[in-house]
Amino acid sequence: MRRSVKEVLGGTEAAKGLTVQGWVRTRRDSRDFSFLEINDGTCLGSLQVIADAGIEGYDQVQSMTTGASVRVVGNLVSSPGKGQKWEMQATSVELVGTAPEDYPLQKKRHGPEFLREMAHLRPRTNLFGAVFRTRSRLAHAVHRFFEERNFVYVHTPIITANDCEGAGEMFQVTTQPDGGSDQEDFFGKTTHLTVSGQLEGETFACALTNIYTFGPTFRAENSHTSRHASEFWMIEPEMAFCNLEGDMDLAEEFVKELTREILEGPNDDFGLFSRFVDKGLEERLRCIVDRPFARLSYTEAVEILEKSGQSFDYPVGWGENLQSEHERYLTEEHCKSPVTVYDYPEAIKPFYMRRNDDGKTVAAMDVLVPGIGEIVGGSQREERLEALRKTMSKEGLSEEAYGWYLDLRRFGTVPHAGFGLGFERMLMMVTGVQNIRDVIPYPRTPGVCGP
Ligand code: 4AD
Ligand code: MG
Repeated sequence: MRRSVKEVLGGTEAAKGLTVQGWVRTRRDSRDFSFLEINDGTCLGSLQVIADAGIEGYDQVQSMTTGASVRVVGNLVSSPGKGQKWEMQATSVELVGTAPEDYPLQKKRHGPEFLREMAHLRPRTNLFGAVFRTRSRLAHAVHRFFEERNFVYVHTPIITANDCEGAGEMFQVTTQPDGGSDQEDFFGKTTHLTVSGQLEGETFACALTNIYTFGPTFRAENSHTSRHASEFWMIEPEMAFCNLEGDMDLAEEFVKELTREILEGPNDDFGLFSRFVDKGLEERLRCIVDRPFARLSYTEAVEILEKSGQSFDYPVGWGENLQSEHERYLTEEHCKSPVTVYDYPEAIKPFYMRRNDDGKTVAAMDVLVPGIGEIVGGSQREERLEALRKTMSKEGLSEEAYGWYLDLRRFGTVPHAGFGLGFERMLMMVTGVQNIRDVIPYPRTPGVCGP
């Protein structure tokens, strides 16, 4: 009977005639038997196998080196060894694929920088196995969160002709690498990879009330930081009949719920993060789950930064963008908790955000968390046709190209709001991993596109 290492290690009773398949982590030989540690990535732990000399296939044991793949049949017995409940007494072993001496993941523990150079092999290590299992769990938790609240999952397009964030940081999609007119191009116009599914998401919220998207997003920004990737995943809920307040409430609840999922879920992978990646992780996540988030208007945030006495690299002042160092001061030093900052200056935010009555700010919000800075960005959308047309013309957006977006304001317009949560930043927060390149299977950053 075939069993995964996870099933075997989590078993409650001894069993006979089980088949386990996986990769050899280590092997130790005695005169009469060999110990094999077998890992198949289904969980953090490895299965210890005792292969007595003379069992079927024992003549191949010397080739079962670190990295080789093997199939083992045997009986599960309780283990006298420390740190494991079960071990397998093999009745036969079989070499499936060899791994020569130059297999790069030998016993020695490698750092994440070294392993980044071999993204195709790193899931075989304890750290990356744990990261990518956690990534999968977190993705399920995202869907569960919205499913429980009756949000409809919408697949917004990847190829698009609009620039949602208006920052012009887009990858062009073309079948005419040598140039040519837009009309001759594949879609008969200029198209790009999406920077956000929001605008299309709005059209669905203005029909189905509460929706969310969860998909890949692309940004051609030349940011060389540990928190920016050129391809990342974003979750974007959008809610009709909702204002900024409701938007902030949902964003905070969402961040808390995902954090709780990781804190209170199976603890072997989390244990690895809190023991080896970040010793303060558990305490920090507890505080995110247990304590309310702080809320500050942008104007209050700027006052706090101005009075902080800190010397920042980037200037602080009303009208300036908050930089990561400012965001981290607010959440880590001042509030000592996550903080939601709202009502940003109109001039530093995209066209779709709702103008506030003060004539200076828009109903925008960002959630900032310790260790990361911005994890969520969102807003109430401008639902008033004339106000939206005014900003669009100011920003040079053509009414023809965005006619469909204006239609939402022409036909049964409603106050609506939404936000985007960076999935990788969330993963960084719950694992303590410091670099975004280490929480996405194949990172894409300026100048880097591996397999
Ligand atoms: O703040 P952003 O740019 O907001 C939007 O795109 C809105 N359209 C969302 C909405 O209202 N529906 O991005 C949202 C989040 C950020 O807070 C950050 O967590 C993440 O996406 N993000 C990135 N993550 C990794 N690499 C990058 N280059 C990122 N840019 C944004
Ligand atoms: Mg943002």
